[in-house]
Amino acid sequence: MSDFLLGASGMPPLPAASEATRDPGDLLRAWVAEAERSGVREALAATLATASPEGIPSSRTLRLAALSADGVVFGTSAASRKGRDLAANPVASVTVYWRELALQLRLDGGVEVLEADASDALFADRPPAARAATVVSEQDAALDDLAVLRARAESLAAAGAPIARPADWWGYRLVPSSIEFWQGSPDRLHRRLRYERADGGAWSVRGLQP
Ligand SMILES: Cc1cc2nc3c(=O)[nH]c(=O)nc-3n(C[C@H](O)[C@H](O)[C@H](O)COP(=O)(O)O)c2cc1C
Repeated sequence: MSDFLLGASGMPPLPAASEATRDPGDLLRAWVAEAERSGVREALAATLATASPEGIPSSRTLRLAALSADGVVFGTSAASRKGRDLAANPVASVTVYWRELALQLRLDGGVEVLEADASDALFADRPPAARAATVVSEQDAALDDLAVLRARAESLAAAGAPIARPADWWGYRLVPSSIEFWQGSPDRLHRRLRYERADGGAWSVRGLQP
């Protein structure tokens, strides 16, 4: 048996669809709490997939600022590839994999840009070195000289003045229209529970074959 399946022990099994709560919020909160309690490394590191207007997909890892049924929050540059994708095609898919617990989450939905004050607060929450690096880096532009960027970031951090959010850096919120819980099982019949939100906001849930 592979290590990732052995790691599943200790997690309560996913409920059958008939016994699952109508709303995925409680289960999602319980999973995030368990990941944090059990010391999963980088529990909020997630893969974000976007698509260009031509339907060309791309994905990358992000560190989420929040992960709940109400919203998956992250911050990035509007000028980056993902930022341009989201401006043109404001839908995305987020995947989280917790190897230590053999759990996977998939959240799909529309993406909205946070207000300026909420984006400011998100930016202010980042460590000083990350804020300085974000200010000096034009994400996705071709790199000419790393030493120049490093010197700018160091002098910004050393100045000790508050580092304001760059004009093209924003918070984003994916509002899930579907959430899938996947739990690895030693019998290989991995468990899946998929929630879907209707236009009116009500959730429905069903089990899926692995
Ligand atoms: C663990 C981890 C966390 C990251 N967090 C962020 C983040 O919060 N925001 C961000 O813009 N890029 C983050 N990145 C970098 C992205 O993966 C990516 O390189 C960058 O955003 C450019 O992506 P794009 O060209 O697809 O827009 C992170 C990378 C890793 C490995």
